[in-house]
Amino acid sequence: MRLLYDESGRPPKTLTESELERLYDHPVGPDGRWVRTNFVTTLDGSIYGPDGRSGSINTESDHHLFALQRALADVILVGAGTARVEGYRAVDLAPWQRELRQRIGLADFPVLVIVTATLSLDPELARPADGHGGPVIIVSTDDHDDAVIEPFRSAGIDVWQLGHGAVDLARVIARLVERGLPRMLCEGGPRLHHGLLSAGLVDELAITLAPTVVGGEAPRTVHGDWISPAPGFRPDRILLADDQTLFLSYVAG
Ligand SMILES: NC(=O)c1ccc[n+]([C@@H]2O[C@H](COP(=O)([O-])OP(=O)(O)OC[C@H]3O[C@@H](n4cnc5c(N)ncnc54)[C@H](OP(=O)(O)O)[C@@H]3O)[C@@H](O)[C@H]2O)c1
Repeated sequence: MRLLYDESGRPPKTLTESELERLYDHPVGPDGRWVRTNFVTTLDGSIYGPDGRSGSINTESDHHLFALQRALADVILVGAGTARVEGYRAVDLAPWQRELRQRIGLADFPVLVIVTATLSLDPELARPADGHGGPVIIVSTDDHDDAVIEPFRSAGIDVWQLGHGAVDLARVIARLVERGLPRMLCEGGPRLHHGLLSAGLVDELAITLAPTVVGGEAPRTVHGDWISPAPGFRPDRILLADDQTLFLSYVAG
């Protein structure tokens, strides 16, 4: 992996794994959090391939950076649409990811936080696909009564109800900070991303550009109404992998 540009002025260079770790660490700011959103997109802006999943457009280097970012996060935040399509479950990790977390003093696993209005999710997702896994929090609205929520609680899922009609994302982020979980990684999807950006809650926007073109009619990384005023971002770093994948990171402001 090669660093092509770094806002802090570091000259272009080939990165070691520990330099990559430091670059993707979450620089928790004065407001006590760092929210990074991370998407892979094709050169023509598609966020998935013909099967409707991002797995059909990502590359080997993206797999690795995706896993590294998971290893560095306290929280993996996703919209329920992505959780359903991509089959999200409690986060399990490879031994190298767990070793890294131990080394830098993070909890054994990141918390998976799923945002949903409908609660159309399977409580079974509290069980990881493989081995051990982290806790799961589902955040929904006040519009559900205890009977609907009970199956999730019985499965060991913590359910938060924050907002009427839609989840109040600012309250979600604030509560995660209160719980001592400041390093937040949002893995999508485009509707949750729209909500976070509209509420000014994104500190860093990371985009993987996969060197391919798929056509089709998939949404972009943000889906929803026009955002006004449009938030501004400045480039923080640009990396190029041996498999020609480009990694762009922009920070708010
Ligand atoms: N290329 C990539 O990096 C990438 C990353 C992530 C996802 N994706 C793709 O994106 C697609 C899924 O996108 P999507 O349109 O379903 O978007 P999404 O943002 O994943 O999910 C939208 C759903 O999240 C819930 N939600 C989001 N914000 C909410 C709020 N403020 N309050 C209450 N609920 C909220 C709602 O769930 P309920 O419907 O349950 O109420 C809503 O329908 C999949 O095809 C996936 O593969 C691609």
